[in-house]
Amino acid sequence: MSRFSIRRTVLSVLVAAAACVSMPAFASKEKPVIGFSIDDLRVERWARDRDFFIEAAKKLGATVSVQSADGDTAKQVSQIENLISRKVDVLVIVPKDQSTLTNVLKEAKKAGIKVVSYDRLIKSPDVDVYISFDNERVGYMQGEALMQAMPNGGNVYVLSGDPGDNNAKLFKAGAMKAMDPAIKSGKVKILGEQSVKDWLPANALSITENVLTQHQNKIDGFLGPNDGTAGGIIQALAGQKLAGKVPVTGQDAELAACKRILAGTQTMTVYKSLRLIATEAAKVSVALVKGEKVNYKPEKAEGGVEQILLDPIVVTKANMDLLVKDGFYTKEQLGLK
Ligand code: BGC
Repeated sequence: MSRFSIRRTVLSVLVAAAACVSMPAFASKEKPVIGFSIDDLRVERWARDRDFFIEAAKKLGATVSVQSADGDTAKQVSQIENLISRKVDVLVIVPKDQSTLTNVLKEAKKAGIKVVSYDRLIKSPDVDVYISFDNERVGYMQGEALMQAMPNGGNVYVLSGDPGDNNAKLFKAGAMKAMDPAIKSGKVKILGEQSVKDWLPANALSITENVLTQHQNKIDGFLGPNDGTAGGIIQALAGQKLAGKVPVTGQDAELAACKRILAGTQTMTVYKSLRLIATEAAKVSVALVKGEKVNYKPEKAEGGVEQILLDPIVVTKANMDLLVKDGFYTKEQLGLK
């Protein structure tokens, strides 16, 4: 081979390699590329969602590029823009604040990219499907468990999730529905309610410290919207030697929360199988790219978005072993015999 043709061969290999890097992802529907944009990987559950999702996507021949916005709306928008410019086939989004995504989703639609709203609803005509749990039911389970833990009634303080998260509204609506009869009969009084910005445990801690002071510790139950915030509430109660004496709800079946339930400082949690939602979402994403039929719920979500809703399960000390049976934790992790 002449020097010239060696050079030419090297050059064409380099050109081919460069083409590979920037090649549109639409190249093969058999190997879709999924962009997974997550609000905040600092919350334990989302890291598990990510892992289950990647595992499921891989089995379906897809690859996943994950971005975490660390709870920052502007960062989430620019990360999604970046995924669009990299020509992913489908975007799977856990929105920090759905109202900030309108324009970027228009861009996605224009680029022919499918969009899956993961766990939290994005009310946009540019979203193809919303996949989540029955979130009002999650809230109902919390409210119901709180009422069961307060057979003599009393004063309840309500904490709800981040105001930018549509789920926070659904959880609270469900919980209020469950508590409504006790409130109407005068058995239970709602002392007040506050939302926990960014779902941060530290914010739940300071809200609880303040309301305990304000009400001279005369609070008989806390509606905790998730396990992270329940941790903050219980920390504040512990500061007043009230942990284990005042019921507190949660959700997510986080390991620390399960341990608190076993120790008696948290009343309950709600288990939402993350393997299930992640696997279903991966299947739907790939089906959308391939143009295959997807079975939605007959009724659409708010904003007219097609939806798939999965079933949540209440977890207390009595049925904690179901998390072991479902492979969510080992007995050793939970400290069960
Ligand atoms: C999810 C919860 C989670 C919370 C905070 C909600 O939208 O449904 O499972 O605890 O966000 O990240």
